Amino acid sequence: MTTEVLGISEESLCKAKKYIEEGEAVAFHTETVYGLGANAFSDEAVRKIFALKGRPADNPLIAHVHADYDLSRLIDGEPPYAAALRAAFLPGPLTMVYPSKGKVSKYVSCGLDTLAVRVPSSPAAQAFLRAADLPVAAPSANLSKHVSPVTARHVLDDFGGKIPLILDGGNCSGGIESTVLDCTGEVPQILREGLVTREMIAAVAGDCGVYVPQEGERPKSPGMAYKHYSPCCRTAWAKSAEEALQIYKNEDMGCGKPLILCESGVIPKLFGARALDLGDTGEEMARRLYALLREGERKATLLIGVEPKEKGGVMAGVMNRMLRAFGGDHET
Ligand code: TXA
Ligand code: MG
Repeated sequence: MTTEVLGISEESLCKAKKYIEEGEAVAFHTETVYGLGANAFSDEAVRKIFALKGRPADNPLIAHVHADYDLSRLIDGEPPYAAALRAAFLPGPLTMVYPSKGKVSKYVSCGLDTLAVRVPSSPAAQAFLRAADLPVAAPSANLSKHVSPVTARHVLDDFGGKIPLILDGGNCSGGIESTVLDCTGEVPQILREGLVTREMIAAVAGDCGVYVPQEGERPKSPGMAYKHYSPCCRTAWAKSAEEALQIYKNEDMGCGKPLILCESGVIPKLFGARALDLGDTGEEMARRLYALLREGERKATLLIGVEPKEKGGVMAGVMNRMLRAFGGDHET
């Protein structure tokens, strides 16, 4: 199969609509990362997504809809705080988990009685979802466990020849996946940290928890149990510039090609060692992280991540992705 990469136009949207109706998978831009979408009403189309990605069968998908889609068609009621959060943050990088009406394919939620819904804000995503005019089940458009894609090229690298169409909306400005928020309880609870932060949610909802899976428990957001966001090269995690340099030197002397991924402030402490610069702020680091992980895996035999200093706000999400990518301690 040839994979076409097309910008947003009347013609490409028409093609996308046709493919979605035929049960094919179409990759599309969002403000967070690219998604791999299929008709959420079709068992076959949703199963194709799992097969294409090599995704575990118990890791549910998010249903994406356009801004005027009537959510009450899919979800069975919502607490008052959820309505306030929708008004404040949607369209945008917030995925909300609700009791499901069971209207979409059972494969979307992998048998759970909840449904995760998301209204992305990128104009390219909105144009695609309006053209499709049905809920589109979509995970990030990367092979399972690989780094999420933030350019059409990244999607092509993972799915070239396997899907008919990538709708190219340019680089993703957000850079890490949406915040996943459980809206089935009395207080909203974050299942996956992202660009809409705990502080931002608490300011609107009054309170906001962060879910931490207990030993031996099936996690509420099954995706978080899996290894994720991993570059193809070997990785190491360092708590300081000094530690990173030590690991770097060992790899260098062993004739490998080490590369350090760190925030800007660390670079002067590396004395010229080869490094990839994540930037200064949480937003900047979120935007650059996945592209740099993909650059790192191409150029290095060993990619060394350095723990950033800041931990609050968007950095909570960046830190979560870095720990997963570099195999660091998940408990911190
Ligand atoms: O930004 C994003 O969210 C991107 C773009 C494409 O929209 N999508 C994305 O999808 O990151 P994915 O499949 O890579 O991650 C979805 C996460 C997983 O951790 C999954 O377990 C969780 O959402 N999830 C989906 N449905 C759920 C449900 N009913 N209950 C709890 N967690 C759910
Ligand atoms: Mg993903």
